[in-house]
Amino acid sequence: MIKPILVHAMALSIAFGSFPDAIGKNGAVSSSSSHASQVGIDILKSGGNAIDAAIAVGFALSVTFPNAGNLGGGGFMVVRTADGDVSTIDFREVAPKSAHRDMYLDENGDVVSGMSLYTTHAAGVPGTVAGFGAAHEKYGTKSWNYMIRPAIKLASNGFKLSYRDAMYLNGSRSYFLRDKEAAKIFTEKDSYSVGDLFIQRDLARTLRRISIGGAEEFYTGITSDMIQRCMTRTGGVITKDDLANYKAVERDPIEFDYRGYTFYSMPPASSGGICMAEILNQLETISFDSVGYHSAEHIQPFVEAERRAYADRAEYLGDTDFVSVPISTLTSDSYAIERFSDYNPNAIIPSSQMGPGELVNFYESDETTHYSVVDKWGNAVSVTVTLNGKYGNGIVVDGAGFLLNNEMDDFSIKPGHPNKYGLVGKEANAVAPFKRMLSSMTPTIVDGPDDNLALVLGSPGGSTIITTVAQIAVNVIDFGMNIQDAVDSPRFHHQWLPDVVFYESNGFSEETLGRLHGNGYQFSEKSSIGEANCIQITPSGIKFAAADSRRAASALAY
Ligand code: GLY
Repeated sequence: MIKPILVHAMALSIAFGSFPDAIGKNGAVSSSSSHASQVGIDILKSGGNAIDAAIAVGFALSVTFPNAGNLGGGGFMVVRTADGDVSTIDFREVAPKSAHRDMYLDENGDVVSGMSLYTTHAAGVPGTVAGFGAAHEKYGTKSWNYMIRPAIKLASNGFKLSYRDAMYLNGSRSYFLRDKEAAKIFTEKDSYSVGDLFIQRDLARTLRRISIGGAEEFYTGITSDMIQRCMTRTGGVITKDDLANYKAVERDPIEFDYRGYTFYSMPPASSGGICMAEILNQLETISFDSVGYHSAEHIQPFVEAERRAYADRAEYLGDTDFVSVPISTLTSDSYAIERFSDYNPNAIIPSSQMGPGELVNFYESDETTHYSVVDKWGNAVSVTVTLNGKYGNGIVVDGAGFLLNNEMDDFSIKPGHPNKYGLVGKEANAVAPFKRMLSSMTPTIVDGPDDNLALVLGSPGGSTIITTVAQIAVNVIDFGMNIQDAVDSPRFHHQWLPDVVFYESNGFSEETLGRLHGNGYQFSEKSSIGEANCIQITPSGIKFAAADSRRAASALAY
C-alpha cells in the first residue's frame, strides 16, 4: 500500500495515497461501465436527484453490462435522503409458486448437477424493474421515461465494446450457444473486438415498452407474455401469475455503529447487513490503533470475525417473510462480545469445531455489479444488482433481448450442499414458493460521527461481498485511507467453510503469511476479489468517487 500522507487542501482531513478517480463538489457516480456512469452524471447535471440517476444507471447497465446489469434479475438498493432518512428497497427475485424444497434433487435425494444454475429452472421471478419502479414512485423527480431514454439509445444505436466487454462476450460464447435466443444476440459475430458497435434491438424495444407502460408492463404487459413464451419453449415454470404477483419491498435497513460511524445496510433477504454488523461489532472489541496494515495482527482477528459471522449466516439467515431471523441479537454489541470471547490468537478453532457443516470447494465469481450515486443535495444511493452467475442462466427471453437470472442457486437446495460460492445453508434458506433466496449483496451507506453522509459502499463478488465492504470501511475508519486506496488495497476473505483464507495475489507480505501459516491458517490465492465502486463524502460535501482498479470500472464527478 502507498503510505497515506495527510493533506489539508480544500479543508479536507482525508489521507491521500493515490488520488481518487473523480472529485467533485456536486455529484458523483461510480459504476462498472463508463457508459452507465456517464448516463448517471448527465441525469444529475440535468437536475435529477441521486435516485433518478441510480434508476437511469441501472437501466443503462442492463444494456452495457449484460453479464450482471439486468432486467431479468434482481438486487437491493439503500437510499439516504438529504435529511438523513435511510430506507432500503428489496427487489430480490422470488421463487415461483410451483417451487418446492426438493426441486433440485433426483429420486435418490441427490442434487441434480447444474440444474439450479444452468437451466430454465435456475431463474427466480425477476425483481429489477419493479425495484426501479418502486424507487421512482417514492423518490423520483424526473419522469420515468426520461430515466430509461439513455438506455434505449445505448441499446438501439449501440455502444462501442471495451476490451473487457469483448473479452467477456468471447469467453462466454459456448455458454450463449446453448440457447438460440442468447446466441442470436451475443454470438452475432464469431469473435468480438475492442471498438465493435454492439446493438441490441430487441432489448431497445423492451426498454421502450417499459418506458411507456411503466414497471407494470414488465409484469403484466407484452414483456410478461414474452417471458411466458420463453418458459414454454424452455420447459420453465414461471407463470404470468408469478410475474403479476411480484412486489418489490421497502424494508428498514440494518443499522449499527462502528467506532462512531453509523452503518445502514441491507436486511434479509440479504445476509449482507447482518453479517457485516457481526464482523465489525466483533472487531470493535479490539483496537487497530498500533497495528500495521495487513500485518498478522490485522488479518487474524478480521478472519476470525468473518468465520464466526459466516457460520451464523449458514445457520440462521433466510427470507424474514418466511423464517424468523434473530436480527437484533445477531447485530448486538453484547452478542459480538460473547461470539468473539473464544478468540485466542495462539489457539485458533477450526471451522469444523465451530459450527455445523463440512468442508467444501469454493468458487469465486464476481458477476454481480455495484454502483454508487450521490447528488448535490446530499441524497445518496447504493445499489447492487445481479443475475447471479455471469450472464445468469444464459437464456434470453424470446424476442425481449434480456437474460434470465440463475438466482435459485442462492437457496440452500439441499442442507449442507454448497452453492456456486461454496456457501452452505440449512432450513432457514430452503426453497419455498414466493420465498426470496438469501443473498450476500451489501449495498451500504455510512454516516460519519457528526451524522454527515460519509461513505457509499458496495461490491460484487458473491460470498466475498460482505467481507470486501467490511474491509473497505475499516481501511477508511481505522487505517485512515481515502476511498481510492481503501478500494484498491488487496483483500482477503474467510467464510467459515471452506476453512481457508482467500487472499488476492501479492496481497500480503511474506512475513504476514508466514506468521499466519504458523498459527494454523490455510491460504488460497485469488487473482481478484470484488469490484467496489464507492464514494466518500468529506464533511464539507466534496465527493471522492473511486472506481475499483481491478476492473474497467468508471467513476465520474462534477
Ligand atoms: N447471487 C449472489 C448473491 O446474491 O449473493
